[in-house]
Amino acid sequence: MAFSRTQTVLERVFAADVPDRADIEYVLRLEDDRQVQVLFEFADRVRREYVGDGVLLRGIIEFSNFCRNTCAYCGLRAANHRLSRYRLTSEEIVAVAENIRLAGVKTIVLQSGEEDNLDADGLARIIEEIKSQLDVAVTLSVGERDREEYAMWKEAGADRYLLKIETSDPALYAELHPGMSFTNRIRCLGDLAELGYQTGSGNLIGLPGQSVESLIDDIVFFKKGDFDMISVSPFIPHAATPLAGVRAGDLQTTLKMIALTRIVSRNAHIPASTAVGSLSGGDARGRALAVGANVVMPNFTPMAFKPLYEIYPGKAGNDKMPDESMVHIERMVAALGRRIDLDKGHSLKSRSVLAPTMIRSQ
Ligand code: 5AD
Repeated sequence: MAFSRTQTVLERVFAADVPDRADIEYVLRLEDDRQVQVLFEFADRVRREYVGDGVLLRGIIEFSNFCRNTCAYCGLRAANHRLSRYRLTSEEIVAVAENIRLAGVKTIVLQSGEEDNLDADGLARIIEEIKSQLDVAVTLSVGERDREEYAMWKEAGADRYLLKIETSDPALYAELHPGMSFTNRIRCLGDLAELGYQTGSGNLIGLPGQSVESLIDDIVFFKKGDFDMISVSPFIPHAATPLAGVRAGDLQTTLKMIALTRIVSRNAHIPASTAVGSLSGGDARGRALAVGANVVMPNFTPMAFKPLYEIYPGKAGNDKMPDESMVHIERMVAALGRRIDLDKGHSLKSRSVLAPTMIRSQ
């Protein structure tokens, strides 16, 4: 019966050191609702067993939208001259961090475009100040930088770093990221893990030119990389990019990929991303939480700047004050029979020196 075949395949995917490509393909191609449900329930059980019922919160500050890159999908691309650019001052960033901590959230995510003139020392001082004043974990997400800069920020107290691979398909990566190099991305991920960061990666679903093969590669990449955090989120087209008018990634594929990521990674932290929330009108983050995700990232960027951090249009929550977002998240989590966990939510992986090597050998 197809039912039990799905179960058997999922058990193999779960148990394998490197999952079989044909098994992942079988799962990605499931269409029958009942079988897809078998996948979602399997992932939900792995989530419950390996990370529990708590939903961790990460407060995000989008502190600058300056970017030197021209990623084909992103509204912050340097070639988007219509976008006004902003950068919060150190004082503003620390003040927002204090607000996040006052809301009870104990992870501060400092995110920006990949700035050409990033003041690395200034960022180190901000990290030091936040870490000395507030009892929080600090996550950075500022793109591809030198190993020395990563080392300096780690020294300053940063705990974690997010750098999505976006796609693990080198040819597709090259097409979407003019002037950037897949090899350097991998170098960055290896450096971050070696330096002791809890390292997050992830991908985009529904990129034009992305095949089922590429999605299989992404799952294998996540498994081999043994990442502490993995964000799987849909591509959403932005009018001021070459991908304007292209179809957005679809919710069902995104949910299947989140479920598979949970099954292979077991205890990685997986967000129900804002992009998932922005899909299909309603808030689909609850659905992501029900198929493997265990993290939500409320946005604390000051209201005046939120619309300018437009990586894609229609970002969920842009119209909401942070405390409204928090109430909304609490309701969503309660409706799922889960609870908000206000812990710092450090990595559940026991660090292995092998991880960076695994990443580099992709
Ligand atoms: N749709 C969805 N996500 C996007 N990102 C950038 N542009 C888009 C888009 N059009 C995501 C990338 C990046 C993160 C900061 O934002 O995955 O890593």
